[in-house]
Amino acid sequence: MKNLLSAADLSVAEIDSVLDLAEEMAEVQSRPIKKLPALRGRTVVNLFFEDSTRTRSSFELAGKWLSADVINVSAKGSSVSKGESLRDTVLTIAAMGVDAMVIRHPASGAPAQAAAWTGIPVINAGDGTHEHPTQALLDAYAIRNHLRRGNHDDLAGARIAIVGDITHSRVARSNVALLRTLGAQVIMVAPPTLLPSGVDTWGVEISNDLDAVIDSVDIAMMLRVQRERMSGGYFPTPREYTVGYGLTRERLAAMKPGAAICHPGPMNRGLEISADAADAASSLILDQVAAGVAVRMSVLYHLLGGEEETT
Ligand code: CP
Repeated sequence: MKNLLSAADLSVAEIDSVLDLAEEMAEVQSRPIKKLPALRGRTVVNLFFEDSTRTRSSFELAGKWLSADVINVSAKGSSVSKGESLRDTVLTIAAMGVDAMVIRHPASGAPAQAAAWTGIPVINAGDGTHEHPTQALLDAYAIRNHLRRGNHDDLAGARIAIVGDITHSRVARSNVALLRTLGAQVIMVAPPTLLPSGVDTWGVEISNDLDAVIDSVDIAMMLRVQRERMSGGYFPTPREYTVGYGLTRERLAAMKPGAAICHPGPMNRGLEISADAADAASSLILDQVAAGVAVRMSVLYHLLGGEEETT
C-alpha cells in the first residue's frame, strides 16, 4: 500500500490484512506501557483543514504508540489562514523530509492531489463529501468483532443499514465501497432530499422508510446530519427528520436480538439518534472510537513499516 486515499481501492486481502494487524495493535492499546518501536525514526504529519476530535487524536496516538514522531498542523494557526494554497502548504511540509501525511480537507480529492504533488504516502482522513477510508476500516473492525462475539461469520452476508444524510456523507461512501467488497448486504435509508443523485448506481438497496427495514438489519449505522454543509436550507425540518429517520427508543426496541448500532460521531443526540440508542448495550459507538486507534496503527504500519531505517 503506497497511499490510502479511497476504500474503493482496497481488495479483500488488503482489508483483511489491515483488520488482522489491528487486532494485534489493540492488544498494545490495553497495555499499561503503550509503545512499540515499529516506526521509530519515522515522521508523520497530521494536516487538518477541518475540525476533528476522533480522527486527529487517534492518528496522533497511533503514530506515537508506534514510536513515530507526530506533528499536528491545523489550518487555524498555520499560514493557511494567511492565504497559503493547499499546494504550497503540502510542498512546504514535504520539503521538511516527513515520511507521511494524514490529510483532512473540505475539498473532495485534496489528499489525492497532495499525493500526486509530493510523492510521499498520504492517508485520506476525510475529504469533502468524497471518502473517509479509515472510518470505514474501523467500522468494519468494530462490526466484525461484534458479529464474531455472536458466533456469526464475518461481514459477508450481514445486513447493514446506513441511515440518514447520505448526500453529505463521506463515511457513507467509504462504507458502501468497503462493505460491498467484503460481501455485506448494504441498504441506504434516507429521505429523498438527502439521497445523492446517482445513488442508484452504487449497487445497494435504497429505502425511504426506516420503519420498514429496522427490524431486519444486523447493524443500523446512523449518520450525522451535517447541518454545516446545508447552505441551501434544511429539509426535512429537525422534527420531521427525527420522526422519520431518527433511531428513537421505539425503533431501538424494534431491532432484532443481537443487532447493533453504529455512529461515526460526532452525534447530534436527539436528532438522528436518541440517548436511549446511543447509550444502549447494543451500541458499538465507543467500540468504534477504540477501534480507531488500533486500525490507524495498522494503517500507518502498512504504509511505513518494513522500510529500512536510515541511520
Ligand atoms: N468520525 C470522525 O471523523 O470524527 P471526527 O470529525 O471527530 O474526526
